[in-house]
Amino acid sequence: MHENGAATRPVRAARSGGLSGRVRVPGDKSISHRAFLFGGLAAGTTRITGLLEGEDVIATGRAMRAMGAQIRKEGSAYIVEGVGNGCLLEPEAPLDFGNAGTGARLTMGLVGPYDFGATFVGDASLSRRPMGRVLDPLRLMGVQVVGRSGDRLPLSIHGPRASAPITYRVPMASAQVKSAVLLAGLNTPGITTVIEPVMTRDHTEKMLQGFGAELSVETDGEGARHIALVGQGALKAVPEFEVPGDPSSAAFPIVAALIVPGSDVTIENVLMNPTRAGLVETLIEMGASIEILDRRDSGGEAVADLRVRASELKAVDVPPERAPFMIDEYPVLAVAAAFAEGTTRMNGLDELRVKESDRLAAVAAGLAANGIRHEEGPDFLTVTGDPQGRGISGDYGGGLVTTHLDHRIAMSFLVLGMATGRPVTIDDARMIATSFPEFEAMMTGLGADLSTADR
Ligand code: S3P
Repeated sequence: MHENGAATRPVRAARSGGLSGRVRVPGDKSISHRAFLFGGLAAGTTRITGLLEGEDVIATGRAMRAMGAQIRKEGSAYIVEGVGNGCLLEPEAPLDFGNAGTGARLTMGLVGPYDFGATFVGDASLSRRPMGRVLDPLRLMGVQVVGRSGDRLPLSIHGPRASAPITYRVPMASAQVKSAVLLAGLNTPGITTVIEPVMTRDHTEKMLQGFGAELSVETDGEGARHIALVGQGALKAVPEFEVPGDPSSAAFPIVAALIVPGSDVTIENVLMNPTRAGLVETLIEMGASIEILDRRDSGGEAVADLRVRASELKAVDVPPERAPFMIDEYPVLAVAAAFAEGTTRMNGLDELRVKESDRLAAVAAGLAANGIRHEEGPDFLTVTGDPQGRGISGDYGGGLVTTHLDHRIAMSFLVLGMATGRPVTIDDARMIATSFPEFEAMMTGLGADLSTADR
């Protein structure tokens, strides 16, 4: 049984022949959440194509509906009729975000300044994650928070009669915190400013500008970004909004193609925004054969097709400054590192401890279960690869990996099992549906050997 009560779904990955084919990964999760949030808020009709239909994003759509947005599907597009900035309605029931940290935190920011109550609930994983990082700046703006579990879900917030604009320096590298404060600024009089000492993904800034918000970005002498938003302005629908493919999902077929001998896989339409491209950069440094083809623009974002061929990898030191640009990709980078010659060192990983699981501990445990040499530090991970010896077709594998309700732990270790001499089993594949519902079918289509495992 699952800690959430329902039955688990263990899956086993066994070594396969070379993977081959062309695939398209689902829409970017970060951009999909924001498309529902901003489309649902802006006056007029936004037509969204390429949206990720994962459980996380659907939960955000449901929340926006509960606050007055109209959302319907026409063919493969989503048609969103927004309420207009400042015009969200009080939700009648608790907003359930399931496993989704982005949905919960950004929506808290969005509704925080409204003079009504909203209750946030989530699954066991989300209920363990820290919300104080978003609630603290909201409190400074006048928002009241009621919860029994120390700034963890379930909790309720209630905005003041008139919220106060703030200038807020984000204390950790977090796009969610930056975004929550900016979204709170949308319904706050005056100018709300976020100071971001370390740049994180910039989808909120770019998309808010696209939806007509008055927002400026300046970088100071120390390299910190000052993002200033004029509150209570009009937001206008974007008639056609296209979501590019998710580089964090593309990461799984990319690493699988690199480590399964004989593979040649092309992944189409992958978002190449520099704040998301750290994994591809790192893998290329490791000697990966990744051709970046047909770079083009898609709705203001760079996208490209990536042709990936099995490669002999060598270990690298991944600098801590790169962490925000590949934060969700460390679990699968650790898998790639298991097949690289030498010891790969990943630094600056403290934020990994507060993701859908403690990803640093979960990755280390998964590597240990499969005979892969590694060292877990407070904020670093080293992985020592052995490609010619125990790696490819050697005695790596054979482990049962605990996924802790974490989709990326699940997919990363299934990718591991595609190349190891012995199969790898994960205890539960259900969470994969939060971000990449097509993962198993897509990987099987490329030639991977995935099967339901015994409970
Ligand atoms: C996200 C920001 C990151 C990332 C998450 C999506 C976003 O989280 O890990 O998957 O869409 O803003 P943090 O802000 O907590 O780093």
